[in-house]
Amino acid sequence: MVQVKVEKAKIDQKQTSLLVIGVFENEHDFSQSKELDPSVFASIKETLENKEFRGTFGSSILVYTLGRGPMKKIMLLGLGKREKFTDESARICAGKAAQKAKELDAKEFSMLQFSNLDEGLVEAMTEGVALALYSFDKYKASNNKELSAKIDEATILINSDSPKFQSIADRANLVVEAVNFARDIANLPPNDCPPAQLASIAMSLAQEYGLKAQVIDRYELENMGMGGIVAVGKGSNNPPKLMILEYNSGVLGEGQQKPYLLVGKAVTFDTGGISIKPGEKMDEMKFDKCGGCTVLAVMRAVASMKLAVNVVGIVPSVENMPSATSYRPGDIIRMYSGKTVEVLNTDAEGRLILADALAYGIATYSPKAVIDLATLTGAAIIALGANVAAIVGTNKQLTDRLRKLSDKTGEKMWELPLYDEYHEQIKSAYADIKNIGGRPGGAITAAAFLSNFANGVPWVHIDIAGTAWTQEGTYERSYNPKGATGFGVRTLVKLLMEDEKPQPS
Ligand code: BES
Ligand code: MN
Ligand code: ZN
Repeated sequence: MVQVKVEKAKIDQKQTSLLVIGVFENEHDFSQSKELDPSVFASIKETLENKEFRGTFGSSILVYTLGRGPMKKIMLLGLGKREKFTDESARICAGKAAQKAKELDAKEFSMLQFSNLDEGLVEAMTEGVALALYSFDKYKASNNKELSAKIDEATILINSDSPKFQSIADRANLVVEAVNFARDIANLPPNDCPPAQLASIAMSLAQEYGLKAQVIDRYELENMGMGGIVAVGKGSNNPPKLMILEYNSGVLGEGQQKPYLLVGKAVTFDTGGISIKPGEKMDEMKFDKCGGCTVLAVMRAVASMKLAVNVVGIVPSVENMPSATSYRPGDIIRMYSGKTVEVLNTDAEGRLILADALAYGIATYSPKAVIDLATLTGAAIIALGANVAAIVGTNKQLTDRLRKLSDKTGEKMWELPLYDEYHEQIKSAYADIKNIGGRPGGAITAAAFLSNFANGVPWVHIDIAGTAWTQEGTYERSYNPKGATGFGVRTLVKLLMEDEKPQPS
């Protein structure tokens, strides 16, 4: 992956194939670049004053330096209106710059800091570059020209020599490596990523990063009473797996601090089972493992950054298939918690596997808080669209923290309410609860179902059905190339960083 560096700007000396300079809309004051060669400076000034380039958001124009200066080319990049510029704009613009540099076949490029220097800006510019240069090319011929150009270095030129900004960039590089890892596994086609494959990826990850790890397979799941996971997995020849990864910060010592529990849905392919889905876009259900991929990636980030927190990640994985051995509508299953569930639709499978994972994780690790991520309902997309994830929880402090962080990371989240009324919709005539609550408020009744298994522990559910991959209705962002987005990794890592205890000295 590209590494993003930070350097004190000396524009007149910076050897680079492409220097990107951000320009706010309709501002031609160009003082930041006075150090440029006078004739290059004049040429840029002319371009701006003649209104050939106005700096509208995302626009760009190339200026050739013809050997006058240490950079081969300069790209002016429109940042849009100054008053509308945020960290998210910086992320998108840095991503644009990186993609342009790639189109130009550059091996490296540099950018002047887009606006006033602060940690958020450096972080966002780093993320934008490294996220935008991601591509999933595992299944393409390697002689494909598109693949040959690889940018391995990008530099942010800043007006400070404080080392703190390089550590911000270093950290962001690690987080993006984790996001791109989530994308790499989430993008795997379902024939190459049954639950066993995901489990083996999780084990290698654990090995590489020194995490404690365990994979529970089908017979053991049965013995343990994980009725939800076993039922959903029954229809497939690819047996279910439950992955458990533990990160214990050396600083705190094991058992010294209750862990966070992260749970992620990993349905490697969701046909709907006996309640089979229509054929249109069924291929996209390979992304039904994205919640689990995000959890694995957060474990990787936390370990690579050596955060001073304790975290347990649990990923239940199944393939939801129709067959002679499938579970059926009408089945009543006994869950790990002991509660019984009447299955009225086999396509509402995610909540069944999450329920067991939540109950098991809470019973085993008594976490201080639980967060689950899942591509759980089409209803979440109906409610909020494809650019905002739905959050539903039982703890206001935790939901508020996530919501606020999501404003910073650009991983937009909005809270839906969990009033008592929603629980009425999942009451069953024959069992403790049923697995569907009808169309009204479908994203919330799914969450209401899960809340039955959170056992009073502070819990937040994030429905990433709309945001986990680029789909119909996705707003195009330079830093989210086609396919899995790795949604949630950056926000969860930020949440855990907030929780880091000051290290004893
Ligand atoms: N994985 C789907 C949810 C989904 C659908 C995510 C489309 C992203 C795009 C989930 O397992 C599912 O099928 N949910 C059903 C629930 C219903 C049967 C109550 C749904 O949303 O239709
Ligand atoms: Mn389903
Ligand atoms: Zn599903």
